[in-house]
Amino acid sequence: MSTDPVAARHLDRHAWVDGRLVRALGPVLAVEDRGFQLGDGVFETIRVHGARPLELGLHAERLAASCRALEIPLADGMEERVRRAIAELIAADGLDDPDDELSVRVTVTRGPVEGRGLLPPLEARPTIAVQAWRVAPVGREVLERGLHVSIASVRRDPQNPLATVKTTSRAEFVFARLEARRRGADDAIFLTTDGRLAEATSASLFLVRAGLLSTPSLDCGILVGTTREWILRWADRVGLRRREALLSPDDLFAADEAFLASSVAGVVPVTRVDGRPVGDGRPGPWTMRAREDREAFARSGEG
Ligand SMILES: Cc1ncc(COP(=O)(O)O)c(C=O)c1O
Repeated sequence: MSTDPVAARHLDRHAWVDGRLVRALGPVLAVEDRGFQLGDGVFETIRVHGARPLELGLHAERLAASCRALEIPLADGMEERVRRAIAELIAADGLDDPDDELSVRVTVTRGPVEGRGLLPPLEARPTIAVQAWRVAPVGREVLERGLHVSIASVRRDPQNPLATVKTTSRAEFVFARLEARRRGADDAIFLTTDGRLAEATSASLFLVRAGLLSTPSLDCGILVGTTREWILRWADRVGLRRREALLSPDDLFAADEAFLASSVAGVVPVTRVDGRPVGDGRPGPWTMRAREDREAFARSGEG
């Protein structure tokens, strides 16, 4: 048994798997699970603030759409099941402080299958797993310095029917993060096969130039981000002109401001791209206002 308190905490954590609370690091899944063997599964990452999941309905809808894309049969009532699973994890692991910020991951794989091969049988018994981690909010240093990003060498193909599906097959995303780290960057930005801006490895991308908010159009093979949709509605509310468009890396280099947006991290400024400053190299005012407003929304319990 480890005496390292951090390791001990990890060993103690629970996961919710197919309706049961189990030790997160215990022997839980069958080796034959196609999620493990083939990345044959889908997932969602949800922010939970003060025990309240943010925009759970939107995540449940996107999870169902991902399952349909891969023909993984998903029982009805997932939103309620996930809500209960989150409540059980919060109770089991003492994550119920009103200020607790959690990242909750819901994974659905096609489940265990006997035999080999890519083509799944028509009958499947999906595995559903829910995990919760306490996360620290994005730190002040990061908000003051902004993220440094690098353009990934992996390209996204907008014609690929899976480009917009949140599958557990993330090897290209892992590759992009490793490449970014080798280059001294915090994250990577994907381009499409025809050289347009797409998205970051786990966040949507936004630019601001001369009072116009731009984000890559859904034709760029990107995820329909829940935070992306919120930011577009927010822009309308605060009177910021906005467009969804085909954007090039030059648009990013010419922007006054750039930021990433995702459920758990919220809005995070981007201040350098491949070593070149965005705007004056500091987080911009629209970015910080978007961050504050999104945080206020997340804490309000309205989502
Ligand atoms: C590739 C990718 N794009 C965008 C996002 C942002 O989506 P959301 O705002 O729904 O968290 C994510 C989130 O994990 C992602 O993985």
